[in-house]
Amino acid sequence: MTVHQDLRRPDASTDAVPDSDETTRRPGTTAEWWRSAVIYQIYPRSFSDSSGDGIGDLPGITARLGALDALGVDAIWLSPFMTSPQKDAGYDVTDYCDVDPIFGTLSDFDALLARAHSLGIRVIVDLVPNHSSDQHEWFQQALTAAPGSPERARYIFREGKGPEGQEPPNNWQSIFGGPAWTRITEADGTPGQWYLHLFDSSQPDFDWSQEEVKQEFRRILRFWLDRGVDGFRVDVAHGLVKDQDFPDYTPDADAASMGGEATPAPYFEQSAVHEVYRDWRLVLEEYAGDRALCGEAWVSSVEKAALWVRPDEMHQTFNFQYLEASWDAQQLRGVINDSLRAFNAVGAPSTWVLSNHDVVRHATRLALTGENPQGTGIGPDYPGLPDRETGLARARAATALMLALPGSAYIYQGEELGLDEVHDLPDEARQDPTWFRTAGERYGRDGCRVPLPWAADADDFGFTAGGTPWLPQPERWRGLARDVQQADPDSTLSLYRRMLSLRSEHDLGLGELNWLGGRSEHVLMFSNQDVVVLANTGTSSVPLPTGHEVLLASSALEGDQVPGDCTVWLRRHAG
Ligand code: NOJ
Repeated sequence: MTVHQDLRRPDASTDAVPDSDETTRRPGTTAEWWRSAVIYQIYPRSFSDSSGDGIGDLPGITARLGALDALGVDAIWLSPFMTSPQKDAGYDVTDYCDVDPIFGTLSDFDALLARAHSLGIRVIVDLVPNHSSDQHEWFQQALTAAPGSPERARYIFREGKGPEGQEPPNNWQSIFGGPAWTRITEADGTPGQWYLHLFDSSQPDFDWSQEEVKQEFRRILRFWLDRGVDGFRVDVAHGLVKDQDFPDYTPDADAASMGGEATPAPYFEQSAVHEVYRDWRLVLEEYAGDRALCGEAWVSSVEKAALWVRPDEMHQTFNFQYLEASWDAQQLRGVINDSLRAFNAVGAPSTWVLSNHDVVRHATRLALTGENPQGTGIGPDYPGLPDRETGLARARAATALMLALPGSAYIYQGEELGLDEVHDLPDEARQDPTWFRTAGERYGRDGCRVPLPWAADADDFGFTAGGTPWLPQPERWRGLARDVQQADPDSTLSLYRRMLSLRSEHDLGLGELNWLGGRSEHVLMFSNQDVVVLANTGTSSVPLPTGHEVLLASSALEGDQVPGDCTVWLRRHAG
């Protein structure tokens, strides 16, 4: 069992905010695990299938935890595996305190947790508090109850506009496309009220002004904390509270689908949402050990993101500014500085992330030449596809930069194999609600969710025990299968292993970044602990600094030159 520390983070008011660009200091005087952890996201449907139904499951994960131990991760985050009709791949929950049969049972979860802890790997579970499934008992009760009843009050039901109430209460659009309101038929068969769903119509939003909703989620938190989880990733953490006037609102056409506009939508970033997390923080503090909350809040700046991790709120929040930065030294330097400064100011670690189950995989994304708004996805007709070699070189270099930064980093399953986005899925295989709700106009997120290749020569690359993978795997992944890469010292998997091992050996997660300047506008160079990092985002080679030993290079060096799209970690020669 992992030994949990019970350390509180320092009072943010005592943390100095750095006054120069050149040194951005982490305040970490304590070593809570989440300040520096490398957290590996498991998308259970696509990780490993032990039952043979073509969908990954919890026993499949447990059986493969050794691979993650060998990789060297500190924690795993499991995307939802709770009971669900799977209309949005599990982000539509009917029972928050049970496991969906396609993924296994609660005992399977306990076994997974025990195995992970025995390997020293922490486990974070995904919590979906903004909405439930429309099959949730509460929503079913709301449908048969009368307007104005306590059962309806748990969700957001409103009368429609127009003489017959035939128009939605306002013009809000679902993040997956189409209207954000659906009209119900009342128990007597007449057209009735409308309910709000920021996502699919099968995902009705809870009304977080209701005490009963708050109580229920405290119960759910305690249920998983009692089982021993180390924390929660909180879905749509910026969306729970809505502007109670429900004003009309039209988002910018090119905004990320999950939010992040300079002037927030009336359903995102409402100040009262922070009360929810202050309350949850107290629930977590009832428990021994170092339990953590990580918020998924798509906001327009790291300063805003830092509002989620003030000392009495969450422990971490995703740094989507970093994910959205291009492979460009100046942009990256800006976002790294802004992040360290903003998170330091509230006493929180910065987090770093390049891929997850909602965005185009970074081995493809970083070399796209066209637009790619979050959530839209790319398909076979996408005009700006990169060549794979460039994409992979950039991905390896970008990850080598990310994993050298102080703070906590997230890795999405498959990126350690250098997997690219499967843009060429056949239309009939696609399952993302975005694809259906936009009548195929937006491809959505299936391309980053394709099941992992474990063994090059096995059927379905060893993903499933005899089934048909729920999304087809591309033939080109054969050469990227884990077993092939394991034996190859130059593989992406070997690079990730080495990065994680050196990151831990040199304690980079708890280090301090000091910029070293003067090379080229395309180059980033800094020190962290005793490691010097040079990332060349340009296309021309730059000389290796002299007097250093190369600890790792994300691609082959050209003599004493660092080629374009390459990151190196160095250590100064003694003496
Ligand atoms: C964010 C999740 O990451 C995404 O996959 C999901 O579709 C939405 N929230 C709705 O729960």
